[in-house]
Amino acid sequence: MRDASNVVRMIIRTRTLGRDGLTVSALGFGCMGLSQGYGAADEQESIAAVRRALDLGVTLLDTAMSYGAGHNEELLGRAIVGRRDEVVLATKFGIVRGADGTTRVNARPADVRGYLEASLKRLGVDHVDLYYQHRVDPHVPIEESVGAMAELVAEGKVRYLGLSEADSKQLERAAATHPIAALQSEWSLWWRELEDDVLPTARRLGIGLVPYSPLGRGFLTGAVDPNAFAANDFRRDDPRFRGENLDHNRAIVAEVRALADERGVTAAQLALAWLLAQGDDVVPIPGTRSGVRLAENAGAADVELSAAEVARLEAAAPRSAWAGDRRAFGAPVTKRGSA
Ligand SMILES: NC(=O)c1ccc[n+]([C@@H]2O[C@H](COP(=O)([O-])OP(=O)(O)OC[C@H]3O[C@@H](n4cnc5c(N)ncnc54)[C@H](OP(=O)(O)O)[C@@H]3O)[C@@H](O)[C@H]2O)c1
Repeated sequence: MRDASNVVRMIIRTRTLGRDGLTVSALGFGCMGLSQGYGAADEQESIAAVRRALDLGVTLLDTAMSYGAGHNEELLGRAIVGRRDEVVLATKFGIVRGADGTTRVNARPADVRGYLEASLKRLGVDHVDLYYQHRVDPHVPIEESVGAMAELVAEGKVRYLGLSEADSKQLERAAATHPIAALQSEWSLWWRELEDDVLPTARRLGIGLVPYSPLGRGFLTGAVDPNAFAANDFRRDDPRFRGENLDHNRAIVAEVRALADERGVTAAQLALAWLLAQGDDVVPIPGTRSGVRLAENAGAADVELSAAEVARLEAAAPRSAWAGDRRAFGAPVTKRGSA
């Protein structure tokens, strides 16, 4: 499992998001880092990584109109030329990134169609498979945003709808407007807030779970060196990567690595396998700029953890043990629970 050169043999198993049959690879590919967030990315390597994903059977490709202010969708569009049929293409609207790098949320219904049309053009496709509202707009009732998205489904420009970082009440209201196939929110061994309230609600409503930053923005791989972060790496602003929190969290990740060694997998694979073990409705979307690491991560789809292994991992890296709160765009800063 550890040897990424063995990847040719991998055919990734599939999972279904939502109640209406959106079939995707059990692990997707989060493409954000190809355009922003984790330092410079090489264009040709990025395109090769996307194609490698498809070669490995990773069908779910995740992007957004805001990633690189359109660059990410354009890159993806170029990478999937001639291979559209192999892809479950997911993009998002509603975080608007200006040329100066500033961001704001806008999900007014009058703007949704224009956002989709612009995404379709950048991606070079006539429809997207999964269209997410990237953030709930505090100034727009969610029924109105989702209502506008539903019109796009009716027109065949979008196949399924999703939300990102919605809370339980917002999920209820959205699902009462139109079926929601997926909720994309931060979820990993070191950020488990969603398990309290949102996860049970999503499950009751039949909404699939797409954990973003499933590798803890790289930290859970045990290979992250904050001293090497580029000037524009957004982890510089994440309290989990700083000062005493960092030292504290490093000790926990060392435990994760030790368990991974024992299991004969990498720490990244163990972190992803833990998410996959949370239920058949969970499809993590790890990101990387490297085809080799992409293959390593895809290998997690073959790692099935027993209940005892899950329990051991959670005892070694308990939910309440990690230090520092996250800084996700538009998300409230919350204290983690002690469960
Ligand atoms: N909905 C939202 O609001 C939201 C927010 C954030 C992210 N997302 C989505 O979720 C996707 C994944 O999240 P993410 O990229 O933030 O975080 P992530 O997947 O948890 O971690 C990505 C980081 O881990 C490193 N990495 C990946 N695989 C590795 C491996 N096997 N060994 C060592 N390092 C490895 C990457 O570095 P290299 O590039 O150098 O490999 C990168 O720095 C994004 O691409 C995006 O599509 C959505």
